[in-house]
Amino acid sequence: MSGEPINVLVHTAPLRNSDGEIEKVIEMSIDITQLRKLQDKLSSVGLLIGSIAHGIKNLLNGLDGGIYLVNTGLKKNNHERIDKGWEIALRNVRRIRSMVMDILYYAKDREPNWEEISTFEMVEDVCKIMKERAENQDIDFSYELDGKVGDFEADKQAIRSMLLNLIENSIDACRIDKNKSEHKLVVRLKGDSSKIIFEIEDNGIGMDRETREKAFSLFFSSKGAGGTGLGLFIANKIAQAHGGSIAVTSEEGKGSHFVVELLRKRPDIKENEEKSESTSGGE
Ligand SMILES: Nc1ncnc2c1ncn2[C@@H]1O[C@H](COP(=O)(O)OP(=O)(O)O)[C@@H](O)[C@H]1O
Ligand SMILES: [Mg+2]
Repeated sequence: MSGEPINVLVHTAPLRNSDGEIEKVIEMSIDITQLRKLQDKLSSVGLLIGSIAHGIKNLLNGLDGGIYLVNTGLKKNNHERIDKGWEIALRNVRRIRSMVMDILYYAKDREPNWEEISTFEMVEDVCKIMKERAENQDIDFSYELDGKVGDFEADKQAIRSMLLNLIENSIDACRIDKNKSEHKLVVRLKGDSSKIIFEIEDNGIGMDRETREKAFSLFFSSKGAGGTGLGLFIANKIAQAHGGSIAVTSEEGKGSHFVVELLRKRPDIKENEEKSESTSGGE
């Protein structure tokens, strides 16, 4: 009686008299709402497993490729080959790791692990790691971080993984783009009394309208072998859990600009408590 639509399975059977004419019809309906929900869930789990298996297979192929270069480089004493192979191997190991982290986040659908975090230090730390990675791909990586934004209440691991995902996407977008001689990636951190704002801007491949619209959907990826389509979906979930959102402006061939706005304090717990009180009170 909650007003929610339900799914029912209806069986009917005719009851005939001795002349074979239908006199009555028996109808039996079964509420299969829960079953249908389970079915939907199973099919999305199936998709997830397919996407993971596909992703890991490709990343392992990449890893093999890197190891092959290192091996032949060692035999021929070719340092350039070793460096290149090692970089490829490392990239693929990192990808597997970040994919596993994403999947764990998705699978657990967990409540954020709230703590006061020092925003500047966390973002600087992420930027230092990513700067090296970007520069290995000849991308000019810079960051403009307001040192006075102060602390904010958040799930540190989730925010880190969200930033890493966004920056990684920008690095990919620059690497894929073959039409510019110089690539740039800028990370910014700002804040006001109620919000923390992260910006990630690149002059990579950009997105057309269709890609922009689908970018945050689960399993959407334009990268074929190189993508799983989990990153932005989960980044968006993380932003929402922090009372925030992610906005994107992007132009095909020009680049993309992601703006993440999060609440400085965790979204009002009182409001949720009140909600659950009023629903339990109404029953
Ligand atoms: N900075 C960016 N520049 C261009 N396209 C992007 C950018 N970030 C995300 N996208 C698009 O959004 C898609 C989904 O991103 P994501 O969910 O992280 O999955 P994945 O990186 O595995 O493809 C990407 O495949 C790409 O098409
Ligand atoms: Mg991604």
